[in-house]
Amino acid sequence: MAQELWTRVDRYIEGRLIPQDPALAAAIAASAAAGLPKIAVSAAQGKMLHLLARLAHARRVLEIGTLGGYSAIWLGRALPPDGRVVSLEVDPRHAEVARSNLSRAGLGAVVEVRVGAALETLPELEREQAGPFDLAFIDADKENNPAYIEWAIRLGRPGTLIIVDNVVREGSILDSASHDADVRGTRRAYEFVGAHSRLAATGIQTVGVKGYDGFLMAIITDGEARS
Ligand code: SAH
Ligand code: DHB
Ligand code: MG
Repeated sequence: MAQELWTRVDRYIEGRLIPQDPALAAAIAASAAAGLPKIAVSAAQGKMLHLLARLAHARRVLEIGTLGGYSAIWLGRALPPDGRVVSLEVDPRHAEVARSNLSRAGLGAVVEVRVGAALETLPELEREQAGPFDLAFIDADKENNPAYIEWAIRLGRPGTLIIVDNVVREGSILDSASHDADVRGTRRAYEFVGAHSRLAATGIQTVGVKGYDGFLMAIITDGEARS
């Protein structure tokens, strides 16, 4: 009941604010045809990421969790001509589908998809001095979210915006006794962010075509906690 209404409202929003887009539609179709799970951000969420990247004047974006490149297309399109997205993906099949979707979208030279467990590729980025990243979108395995946030800070700068997907999980994050690794990782992410002196953060609950979930958003401050 509620889900059906949320889906209809998302369709309403898309119908008015998010024009049909051949590259995004093709990315979704090709991802489904390749058997990838249907867990990309929604159109409305992708556009929000895009708007936030524009608002931040982002030139360098870090994404953890590429899947078929759907969110990477939204982020890549927000950047100036010399901008760059580095997107980390552990599954080579997902990365291959993503690269094909990204080049179809004209973003083959903008988005680099790097294959490997993010905890192994993030130190590579540091060694290569690939940062500082202006925006980090964290959307991979949830149990490593505290570590990913720590890396986003390390590879960021004061002002960097950090966004974490799937931090409400239908409210299951309230269960402090949960044995679900995703819930535990998410709860540890809140504790980590809340205790960190260099982050100003909030959590926003969302409903829509993807159900009831939410985003955590934080900016790196210059070291003085302000809120
Ligand atoms: N951001 C994408 C969705 C990502 S789904 C979008 O909105 O379009 C989560 C992705 O994270 C999956 O493709 C999964 O293979 C990947 N992933 C899971 N564990 C990972 C890890 N340890 N390192 C890098 N990627 C990982
Ligand atoms: C799942 C992962 C996601 O990143 C998401 O946005 C939705 C679902 C999942 O693993 O089920
Ligand atoms: Mg997600």
